[in-house]
Amino acid sequence: MALHSSSIDLDFDRRHLWHPYTSITAPLPVYPVCGASDVFLELEDGRRLVDGMSSWWAAIHGYNHPVLNRAIVTQLQRMSHVMFGGLTHEPAVTLAKQLVALTPEPLQKLFFSDSGSVAVEVAIKMALQYWAALGQTPKNRLLTVRSGYHGDTFAAMSVCDPVTGMHSLFKGVMPEHYFAEAPAPRFYEPCQEEDMADLRQRLERHHREIAAVIIEPIVQGAGGMRFYSPHYLCRLRELCDDYKVLLIFDEIATGFGRTGKMFALEHAAVVPDILCVGKALTGGYMTLAATLTTETVAEAICSGNPGLFMHGPTFMANPLACAVASANIRLLCSYDWQAAVQRLEFGLRQGLEPCRDSCNVADVRVLGGIGVVELHHPVDMGIIQKQFVDKGVWVRPFGRLVYLMPPYIIRDKELIQLTTAVCDVVESIS
Ligand SMILES: Cc1ncc(COP(=O)(O)O)c(C=O)c1O
Repeated sequence: MALHSSSIDLDFDRRHLWHPYTSITAPLPVYPVCGASDVFLELEDGRRLVDGMSSWWAAIHGYNHPVLNRAIVTQLQRMSHVMFGGLTHEPAVTLAKQLVALTPEPLQKLFFSDSGSVAVEVAIKMALQYWAALGQTPKNRLLTVRSGYHGDTFAAMSVCDPVTGMHSLFKGVMPEHYFAEAPAPRFYEPCQEEDMADLRQRLERHHREIAAVIIEPIVQGAGGMRFYSPHYLCRLRELCDDYKVLLIFDEIATGFGRTGKMFALEHAAVVPDILCVGKALTGGYMTLAATLTTETVAEAICSGNPGLFMHGPTFMANPLACAVASANIRLLCSYDWQAAVQRLEFGLRQGLEPCRDSCNVADVRVLGGIGVVELHHPVDMGIIQKQFVDKGVWVRPFGRLVYLMPPYIIRDKELIQLTTAVCDVVESIS
């Protein structure tokens, strides 16, 4: 890559800027992007990459979309931001109405925050304040499953997989919670009683201390890209009810159609007590997330001491973010997005299936707009990233996982370019 020809000061970037999960003393190269439109990222050296990542689940309608651009420009000319304490505005109320209408009926009360991790913090606080308000102060721990990922802030991190989720690094500082085995039955498999045994035993033993179970419904994302059985969620809901424990669904990655349903919880028709959404909420334009809960939880929180929900970020319900999120949801609902995601699923299945023949590959799995090729060994990021860029695609593997979640608007030609690149690169690993 011709780093020296960039008008972006890449040398400054390398010396001063941290990128996600990187060393600042020995950074891998980063690729300077000067534009993005439709499903393409435009590199400074003129190359155009087909985007296979939707900027980490977010850009479901691709980039530079005229409808989303218009929404944000129109809002910008009215006001870009005002504090949400003591004030309100149309973009927040409109978006809240859309989210309440789109999510299961009992989820009526909503809190906006700035990122997915914060939405998870808010969800955890809601669960803790709920039990405290009911006088059940010992209920202040969480139960979750292994292979989960919920974000990088402290409370969110404390419910990520304990092995891959930095727990040893922050031991003694981070709250310690209970972990059950990761859901074993795959998406199309039934869930047997023994599949729930570990979780049930932990609930049986510790339910008096457990405020909530938190889980990513159907798809465990950054913790392993695992797809599990909807029946597991049905059983989980029953167990939470039996043991008087709240259920939190983290749909930050899966929300807004990615799994083929508007929300992954619809595969199981299970309603949580608290739901987190983010990422694709704004179509990838701005950072915004929301935590929804039921009247029961909200009323209990506000009946206790101090009678308030104790959170309030500076940029809460940012009008630009709310306006673009609102336009993004309208856009999503204006076309047959289910057909688009089905077409994506079909293309990913067909295109990635040949990877199975490679001796480097342990598994290939596809659900909705998510295609995963699991390898036997972790990739060398420096090498594999360049190989993908050289093939004109943007694919960012992690560990043993090479995965695609392209924008829903991708055409067959570019989808084939993505899946062919994955098959070729995976096959070439020596
Ligand atoms: C399921 C899930 N929860 C929470 C988060 C954290 O979101 P954010 O990166 O916006 O803080 C992520 C991000 O990847 C996620 O996939």
